[in-house]
Amino acid sequence: FNIKYYSELDSTNRYIKNLDSSENDEGLVIVAEKQLKGRGRNGNDWYSPAGTGLYFSILLEPEISVLDLSKINMIISLALYNVLKNKYPVKMKWPNDIYLADKKIAGILIESNIEAEMVKEVIVGVGCNTNQEVFPDELNKKAGSLLLFSGETVNNKNILTDILIEFDSLYSDFMIDGIDYFGVWKQELGIIGQEIKVKSNSNIIQGEVVDIDRQGNLILEKEGGNRQVISSGEVSVI
Ligand code: BTN
Repeated sequence: FNIKYYSELDSTNRYIKNLDSSENDEGLVIVAEKQLKGRGRNGNDWYSPAGTGLYFSILLEPEISVLDLSKINMIISLALYNVLKNKYPVKMKWPNDIYLADKKIAGILIESNIEAEMVKEVIVGVGCNTNQEVFPDELNKKAGSLLLFSGETVNNKNILTDILIEFDSLYSDFMIDGIDYFGVWKQELGIIGQEIKVKSNSNIIQGEVVDIDRQGNLILEKEGGNRQVISSGEVSVI
């Protein structure tokens, strides 16, 4: 990896997006101490004040089929989860969040550039709430940090190194040896059989999760037995 640190950026994902894509920069990692416009999934903002959280993006140029793009999501989710679970009782939440004691402590935003059904470029953005002591009111119920949970300050550089080493190992398993982490990821999510509500755009859909397909979509069985495939949204268990 080629890691570059910045004290302030609008968004580490956006920074990579704006780079000249003709350059071969696979493995570039952009880290910001603070983001002015950190971005989350579903058009949300990502709270990114200075000196507290870990905010970074990795650039990949995998040349894989668009059908395999979801594998990158599974790999980065597992990398984060594997590192954090060594120290904290974390849980994965579909599609790519990490929770600790019912509070969200990490999220992933993946953006990609696809040409002729092939994935040319993937920007893997990770936000991890390491050392936040307070959150704004609107986030207070939902968000937590490693520090708030354990009382111990986290060294962001060390945890970043651990995450990158684990990611590199899983990513090489996938790219070089063709190892598929779908089964492990699906198992760790532990969502099958649960009755859930999914908020996606402004729709709310309710049903039982009967399966997860290879693309990582939820298969929901609604009242009456109709099935629906859910590819994004915010899940709450009923
Ligand atoms: C989510 O909504 O759960 C995803 C949050 C992803 C936030 C990270 S912080 C580093 C990278 N740059 C961004 O602008 N967003 C991602």
